[in-house]
Amino acid sequence: MKIGVAREIKPQEGRVALLPRHVRILVNKGHQVFVEKDAGLLSSADDAEYVEAGAVICDTPEDLYGNARLIVKVKEILEPEFGYLRPDHIVFTNIHAALDKKQLDVLLASKCFAISAENTHEFGSPNCALAGEVGAFEAVRMTLAPNGGTGRHFMSHFGEASAKAVVMGLGNVGRGALRTLVPLGVEVVALDIWEGARKSVMMEYHGSKVTVADISQLKDYVYDADMIINCVLWPKERNDHLISRKMLGKLKKNACIVDISCDTGGAVETSRATSWEDPVYTVDGIRHFCVDNIPGSVPVTASAGYGEALLPKIIEIAEKGAVQAVKENKWLARGLTCVDGELILQEAGIYQKRDYTPVEEWLARQ
Ligand SMILES: NC(=O)c1ccc[n+]([C@@H]2O[C@H](COP(=O)([O-])OP(=O)(O)OC[C@H]3O[C@@H](n4cnc5c(N)ncnc54)[C@H](O)[C@@H]3O)[C@@H](O)[C@H]2O)c1
Repeated sequence: MKIGVAREIKPQEGRVALLPRHVRILVNKGHQVFVEKDAGLLSSADDAEYVEAGAVICDTPEDLYGNARLIVKVKEILEPEFGYLRPDHIVFTNIHAALDKKQLDVLLASKCFAISAENTHEFGSPNCALAGEVGAFEAVRMTLAPNGGTGRHFMSHFGEASAKAVVMGLGNVGRGALRTLVPLGVEVVALDIWEGARKSVMMEYHGSKVTVADISQLKDYVYDADMIINCVLWPKERNDHLISRKMLGKLKKNACIVDISCDTGGAVETSRATSWEDPVYTVDGIRHFCVDNIPGSVPVTASAGYGEALLPKIIEIAEKGAVQAVKENKWLARGLTCVDGELILQEAGIYQKRDYTPVEEWLARQ
């Protein structure tokens, strides 16, 4: 199959879907791989390495989309790319369709076959841990006084306790946050709704400055925190919040919220996604950091994990064709977003109140 690795155009997004070592594997299997010029530059992979791996470099996105049938990417299809989509394209990238009506309209209108990569990972998205680790690092930075923070050191000295963090949600992202905070010396309250997640953190961090509790105890801890880190997987259709706007006025002066989940009006009522170009905004005196592509800040590492996770699925799509691959691989089927103008992804249908065909129904028709 003709596979195209597009260059990311989202601001400050340095990741690339496949590194040269992944491309080499596809080429050795007889596929033709096109890579957009400079696609891997910020991931420490230059065009010469892609050529050496057997890829053809395309100077422009027009060339890339024109030559390739299967388009692999990291982030959403953005406005400048809308016009390149064709009905015979298979698009495999993180689409986040539910929250992006404009992009979904374009994908549907193009009649392409689109798979949301973020829904296809059996063991969690490869870069979630990195998001938690880097997000917590940003929270610690925001706690420094010159950055507008509470000015409490992350380590305890001279009888002063170390800075306190509340981490909401203890999945892949929340556990990543703990991996940064605990070794630094931050006192952490780790909260989750699920006993399994709480138990596992309790076991792992026995003897550390980590208090594990049910999320229902949030209000016992949140008003004393220097940093609040949200890592909850929030159902998009929920209208309530864990941290409401009313609660902001009661938080510690100069505390910050790092909302890694960054669902608009989700677990944190006042959250909206931001970018690395302009990552922080303030509501009622509380700084919010809500960057929606945190792993994009460590592209060298993140691209390695992303490519490794995507490669087996790309091979499956390339060798069986998109329909058969989705029929045979339930994880790919979970990401099926639209085909030939028909919406399949349930969460996008529910969230945007659009008609959709449940994936099981679509599969039964094939
Ligand atoms: N900003 C970024 O760059 C970035 C990168 C990766 C992931 N994310 C987002 O981070 C979020 C978390 O991802 P993950 O992989 O850790 O998910 P996960 O499913 O591994 O973990 C989510 C955790 O939230 C808990 N949870 C669910 N409802 C809860 C509630 N009401 N109260 C407390 N805990 C609750 C679950 O029990 C689970 O332990 C997702 O929304 C994901 O999209 C953001």
